[in-house]
Amino acid sequence: APTSQDELKRIAAHRAVDLVESGMVLGLGTGSTAVHALDRIGDLLRCGVLHDIVGIPTSKKTEAHALSIGIPLSDLDRHPSVDLSIDGADEVDPHLNLVKGRGGSLLREKMIEGASKRFVVIVDDSKMVDRLGCSGNSVPVEIIPFCWGYTLGQLKKLFAGECGFDARLRMTGDEKKEPFLTDNFNYIIDLYFENGITRDLNEVSDEILRLTGVVEHGMFLGLASSVIIAGEDGVTVKNK
Ligand code: A5P
Repeated sequence: APTSQDELKRIAAHRAVDLVESGMVLGLGTGSTAVHALDRIGDLLRCGVLHDIVGIPTSKKTEAHALSIGIPLSDLDRHPSVDLSIDGADEVDPHLNLVKGRGGSLLREKMIEGASKRFVVIVDDSKMVDRLGCSGNSVPVEIIPFCWGYTLGQLKKLFAGECGFDARLRMTGDEKKEPFLTDNFNYIIDLYFENGITRDLNEVSDEILRLTGVVEHGMFLGLASSVIIAGEDGVTVKNK
């Protein structure tokens, strides 16, 4: 029988947890792939294979889950140097650049993963793309709520020339009528590119970050040390 996508996520996650050593400060990712890594770390702590682990959660959801399975937690203030972060991604390009933030946790993820000596990304092979933004998923941008319509307009202006480009405020709730709020009480604008981002990624990143209402975006450029990809035919590891 074909391996389910969730099983592939679990396989990638367990491979990453093989890299965890006792005494490490760990960045704990967010999402349906990262949760498998969390559960594995919890199991290894419980049976004594691992000890003296400190976890730094990348979201409130991950914080709650880690606490429920007994992973001791800290934060970047107390542990500014992180040994290893493990997290999923929405897209991975051939240069190991990522899009993250479909779950809305991109800001804390980027802070913690950017502070890590090693950042290992865990994905099933459906996340691999030729170009960021081309999978139909959005590139999320976290913005402050103040005058969000103005910031949306500024983002639309940046990409005015792009064919099939769209930008929308992320909504939530049963009728999708309330703006989605991040853990930092900010909003998210989702950018949609019909053919992916064709321009230089670092330039696009700088242009987005230069907008005053923008806090951070979900492109993680040059941050991943390695990507563990699980597919039907086994596991592939790509290093920077
Ligand atoms: C959370 O905000 C995201 O960055 C996730 O890490 C990313 O969306 C991957 O999630 P899944 O593992 O659930 O696909």
